[in-house]
Amino acid sequence: MKTNLQIKEDFEILKNNNFAYLDTGATSQHPKSVLKAVHNYYTKYNANPYRGSYSLSVNATELYNNARHKVAQLINAKYDEEIIFTKNATESLNLIAYSYCLNNLTKNDEIVVSIMEHHSTIVPMQMVSKKTGAKLKYIYLNNDFQLDPNEIKQKITKNTKIVAISSASNVLGTLNDVQSIISYAHKMGAKVIVDISQSIAHIPFDVTKTDADFVVFSSHKMFGPMGVGVLYGKKEILECMPPFLMGGDMIEYVYEQDTTYAPLPNKFEAGTQNAGGVIGLGAAIDYINEIGYSNIIKIEKELTKYALAQLKKLKFVTLYCTSDAEKHSSVISFNINGVHPHDVASILDKHNVYIRSGNHCAQPLLRYLGIDSTCRVSLSIYNTKEDIDKLILALKKVYEIFKKYIKV
Ligand code: ALA
Repeated sequence: MKTNLQIKEDFEILKNNNFAYLDTGATSQHPKSVLKAVHNYYTKYNANPYRGSYSLSVNATELYNNARHKVAQLINAKYDEEIIFTKNATESLNLIAYSYCLNNLTKNDEIVVSIMEHHSTIVPMQMVSKKTGAKLKYIYLNNDFQLDPNEIKQKITKNTKIVAISSASNVLGTLNDVQSIISYAHKMGAKVIVDISQSIAHIPFDVTKTDADFVVFSSHKMFGPMGVGVLYGKKEILECMPPFLMGGDMIEYVYEQDTTYAPLPNKFEAGTQNAGGVIGLGAAIDYINEIGYSNIIKIEKELTKYALAQLKKLKFVTLYCTSDAEKHSSVISFNINGVHPHDVASILDKHNVYIRSGNHCAQPLLRYLGIDSTCRVSLSIYNTKEDIDKLILALKKVYEIFKKYIKV
């Protein structure tokens, strides 16, 4: 089993530079194998998949669909055609909103999301609510930064048609009990969308076992290239949905006034796709499988435990995370009382420590918590205890600079 120090060697950007990269929640770095797969594609196989009958295009189509198969296997989808490639998780969520929700919801229905959702879920669901008249309801938190189980039962009712929930919060790091939410929502007759963007590089997700109706995630948070997203949908649901984007290759026959559509998955993949990116995602999945989820979980649990212990020693730091380590990912939000997170992040940057600061595309959550921004550390398998020590040292420098304004 590879250690995090050995894993770091696979990432040239980390190996060749002296910074602590603590922003995997925004985008992960790429191992050599992913860069090689993309380079290989462009230097040996580049052609437009599905478009040509010459061997280069046929090979490109095969590589593209091999990557689809790898995605299907990773999340245990029954059929490869249940995997649709998009631009990112946001586009996948928009596809569901426009194609499924607008055609299936009415003013008597309800949409339930959690208050910890990303804008990429909240904003499309607001659009659906405004256009259909369906009511948008929120599941709020208990006082330990977890979704309140009573809220789940109160908010999801027989009128609920859609529940959209993330497996892990990009701000709090809370891991949600997606399985019990899906089971309960199904009992009430609702369909469930699960955003696994913040967890798929860290913990496995099984679409068949959980019985999720739709699942979305992005390649760039799981060691793959930017510009590729995934939508999983149950075949029988996707088959009944109209296309989201119209154009080349999502068609069967086009007449002057009408068109018949291609079967899955092409119906939802209009226009030339990011084939190089998709093949890179395939290589990223190979890399996750090579390291193994059990090793990923072990490494990240140890690092998160260490980071939390060190941060708790800093009396000027307020943490925003659950006390239950089993329900916490490797994302840690905090503030230095009295110092704006952007100032903290800028000073950390001077010490070669890279964190995200701001509202993390989750303004409703932060407003609910009574704050407007946080500092956020998000850890991955290539981080080390040294990265965390650097962070702690740099935070002490922030304290030195601002100490007369800091309330301890
Ligand atoms: N959604 C990404 C994040 O949480 C960009 O940073």
